[in-house]
Amino acid sequence: MRKSLMAGNWKMHTTREDACRLAEEVMKHCPTFADREVLLAPPYTAIAAVAETVSGSDIIVSSQNVCWEEQGAFTGEISPVMVKDAGGSAAIIGHSERRQLFFETDTLINQRVKGALDFDLMALLCVGETLTERESGQMLNVLETQIRNGLAGVRAEQMARVVIAYEPVWAIGTGKTASKEQAQEAHAFIRELISKLFEKNVAEQMRILYGGSVKPTNVDELMAQPDIDGALVGGAALDAESFGRIINYQKN
Ligand code: PGA
Repeated sequence: MRKSLMAGNWKMHTTREDACRLAEEVMKHCPTFADREVLLAPPYTAIAAVAETVSGSDIIVSSQNVCWEEQGAFTGEISPVMVKDAGGSAAIIGHSERRQLFFETDTLINQRVKGALDFDLMALLCVGETLTERESGQMLNVLETQIRNGLAGVRAEQMARVVIAYEPVWAIGTGKTASKEQAQEAHAFIRELISKLFEKNVAEQMRILYGGSVKPTNVDELMAQPDIDGALVGGAALDAESFGRIINYQKN
């Protein structure tokens, strides 16, 4: 049985004070269920404050990106050691905003994934097609390329700390969610690919999250799909009530 992972990506929102308040509110909604985990990814400046706020709870604190080196001349980057030092234990990598707005390539993203894993962080690798790619029938090719390249050189035993987030670019922040069928199709394809690239049991144990306009109103049907193991939530994660409802999705 895979534990679900309900992740909030706060993007470039919240001062330290806002972040602590939001984390405290989220904690009030946190389940005692044994079948799910909660992850919060505040901006770098608030990682330490949020980690302190949630200490003693099971909430996982994550960065929104990570470098592969422990330290050095990498202006503007954050190292895996720094993430851990601030109280984080995970990193989101390859988010579509990094790919599209900051031109991060699969090669760079692969270095980040390997760096995160080398330093024992959980790596949340984001993949997803644009609308043009989907409409021109390229979706599966795009996902395959992003995953093959993103996970190149990752060892099977490291895969226990890898989570893939399928986030169709056209669904992020647009209010347009992939239908449960569209999401399930992509997730099943990703699991099959992981089983080809690694082993069947690696694929069966790996969590695949859906992201892109997840809301209280659509989380239940998405989470009811056999290959959807959680959600990566942007906008709705900034509101504790909404995120609380998402964490507490109903099983049918
Ligand atoms: P959204 O963002 O929920 O606001 O669509 C998701 C994400 O970017 O991870």
